[in-house]
Amino acid sequence: MQNSSIKKIYNTQSYIYDLIFKRFFYPRHRHVINSIDIRPNHKVLDVGVGTGLTLPLYPEFCEVTGIDLSAEMLKKAQDKVDKFDMTHITLKEMDASNLLFEDDTFDFVIATFVISVVPDPVKVIAEMKRVCKKDGLLIIMNHFKSKNKLMGRIEEALNPFTCKIGWKANLCLDELTKKANLEIHRKESLKKIDLWKIVYAVNNK
Ligand SMILES: C[S@@+](CC[C@H](N)C(=O)[O-])C[C@H]1O[C@@H](n2cnc3c(N)ncnc32)[C@H](O)[C@@H]1O
Repeated sequence: MQNSSIKKIYNTQSYIYDLIFKRFFYPRHRHVINSIDIRPNHKVLDVGVGTGLTLPLYPEFCEVTGIDLSAEMLKKAQDKVDKFDMTHITLKEMDASNLLFEDDTFDFVIATFVISVVPDPVKVIAEMKRVCKKDGLLIIMNHFKSKNKLMGRIEEALNPFTCKIGWKANLCLDELTKKANLEIHRKESLKKIDLWKIVYAVNNK
């Protein structure tokens, strides 16, 4: 999938996104943001911030930047920023594979349900690492291909269909970890059996 198609898909989904996905994603967003130690003046980058479901969860004492490829998703995020008067949050239209920030800018770089959407996840992680400070934290929450053979086959079969709605079902975490040289120090899921994993990696540059 190319950025132009992804943009179209999410521009269209922006109107129904919260209605469909909030109930699944928001408890996981809350878990992730509550489990990291964001301190006053820390800088956080939310990559592929979408409609901004995560935004009300960030403490007011930190500085948050949210970027997304889709202008329509960002409009929904901006509505939340305005509604809750979240002056510590800035939103920008930007491609995650070409982040327009200086090296070593952020303490936390977070990508929730994004890494299986982008055409080149390794490039996006390289960009996340570049803009994150050394020893900062990279957090990736996503669906990854199951290690169970049968489930893995089902996900491969489903992949052409999930691609049509904007994400790959067959992204393999082990492969990604190797290719992107991710130094993972913790992996977890919200529930014992869950479709999504949360990966915490130290920025090892
Ligand atoms: C499944 S949504 C996840 C949104 C949000 N992170 C969440 O957890 O609800 C995927 C988002 O990634 C964005 N996206 C896809 N490719 C991108 C890219 N190359 N750069 C920035 N954002 C991108 C889409 O526009 C969409 O808003």
